Amino acid sequence: MTEQTTVNGHAAPRPPSGGSAGARTVTIFDTTLRDGEQAPGASLNQTEKLEIAQQLARLGVDVIEAGFPVASKGDFESVALIAGEVRGARIAGLARAIERDVRVCWDAVRQAETPRIHTFISTSPIHMKYQIKKTPDEVRAITHEMVTLAASLAAQHPAADVEFSAMDASRSEPEFLAEIFAIAIECGATTINVPDTVGYALPLEWGDFIREQYRLCPSLSDVTVSVHCHNDLGLATANSLAAVRAGAGQVECAINGIGERAGNASLEEVVMALRTRGVYFGATTGIVTEEIVRTSRMVANLTGYVIQRNKAIVGRNAFAHESGIHQAGLLSEPSTFEIMKPADVGLTDSDLVLGKHSGRHALRARLKELGYELSDTELDLAFQRFKDLADKKKEVTALDLEALIGEEIRERQDVFTLRSFVSQAGSSMVPTSQVEVDVRGRRRRGKSFSNGTVESVFKAIDNAVGMRGSLADYQVRSVTAGKDALAEVRITVGVDGHTFHGQAVSFDVMEASAKAYVRALNNAAAAKGTN
Ligand code: KIV
Ligand code: ZN
Repeated sequence: MTEQTTVNGHAAPRPPSGGSAGARTVTIFDTTLRDGEQAPGASLNQTEKLEIAQQLARLGVDVIEAGFPVASKGDFESVALIAGEVRGARIAGLARAIERDVRVCWDAVRQAETPRIHTFISTSPIHMKYQIKKTPDEVRAITHEMVTLAASLAAQHPAADVEFSAMDASRSEPEFLAEIFAIAIECGATTINVPDTVGYALPLEWGDFIREQYRLCPSLSDVTVSVHCHNDLGLATANSLAAVRAGAGQVECAINGIGERAGNASLEEVVMALRTRGVYFGATTGIVTEEIVRTSRMVANLTGYVIQRNKAIVGRNAFAHESGIHQAGLLSEPSTFEIMKPADVGLTDSDLVLGKHSGRHALRARLKELGYELSDTELDLAFQRFKDLADKKKEVTALDLEALIGEEIRERQDVFTLRSFVSQAGSSMVPTSQVEVDVRGRRRRGKSFSNGTVESVFKAIDNAVGMRGSLADYQVRSVTAGKDALAEVRITVGVDGHTFHGQAVSFDVMEASAKAYVRALNNAAAAKGTN
């Protein structure tokens, strides 16, 4: 199969309005911080959200959906913070088609260089009847009223705009959906989003569905048509691409595909498919693809959502060739077995970065390359950590630095900080642990014993901080190869019926475990404070 502009004899679809016969640029709308954060236990604190938003801007996404401002005080504050700080990308906030949501959303995003109100209402028979309990006539009226309100608020800003989404569009009556879209466009929405909310669509059918909407609602050609696909059947990327082929001009997606249930379309897959098969799609994106791996690792570290090894584009094995036949082919000509170059997504051979003689200046420069801008005080702390690491480990790689800096960022807002721990264990004794934890700056001690060493440390921490966590998942891996590698522990803990993730790195597996557990409790404490 070679790159072509027609498939199976069908002509490429008509480009959307404003598009040319040449490559058009598809808008990449990233929802990692909104739908992505809705993934169970993927909660992020404000500093982490800002850090990710800044990295998304470096990655070149066109729109960052920063959160759902009306959901909680914490959500409002992080959207407002991102709107005030992040430049170079449009900042969107989500709002149900309810007056209070729309107004609160506007207050959160209005400081952005280019703000967006993203309002939505359900349009499928099943959602209208059971989810929002509204008649089709009421949905028509609410769409009219709320998009008009959003557009009037957006008119206060020279670059603000409004996006409208029809929730559960894929299970909606096509004629009714087209009617709702026409109302939203007439009232001022300039992006119309067609979500496959429950991940029900199939690629060929979904492409036809989008084409049919262009036919039933001619004014769609005057705006940007967007798709938002969920991955319940593992088809989110395929469906998003089918929609692009049918003329959609915006794709909503999340880094590493995180999101509600099975997640959203994965940004890296959509973007690299459009880049690798650009001729077929007649489309491209403005994404700086070399930033993909860095963004992916940052999101995995901060959310605790581990990337599966064989995940397309960003999995550890995505560019690893095991078989001798493949390796021989690659050595003589990389394109024999590689359709993308590792460097295109930001994987370089120059993972070796610094050694124990490197100074502050070299560390600052390398961190800058990795996307981290630290203040002088932050750099002092990072340098101290780097020196401790370089004393124990001959080669400090980009992966090591990212793991350490990720910890650094998170510790800035912590309620609990592990100061020390001592554990005694052996084949003929009951493991016993003692810990010292600072709770809002005050030293607390805890002691406990249990059948396992790890459990005895966790119980001692519970006693010190006055919380009860129950361990749901525990994973250990090494950050790099070699006996002197850092150990990374990822943990899932249940607190008061909610789950929280924790991740930490250390040379010592027990220390990494204790820190990861404290991290999960910090996330639980932060969630209590913001809701
Ligand atoms: O899945 C969905 O329908 C959504 C909307 C709010 C766009 O996330
Ligand atoms: Zn969604």
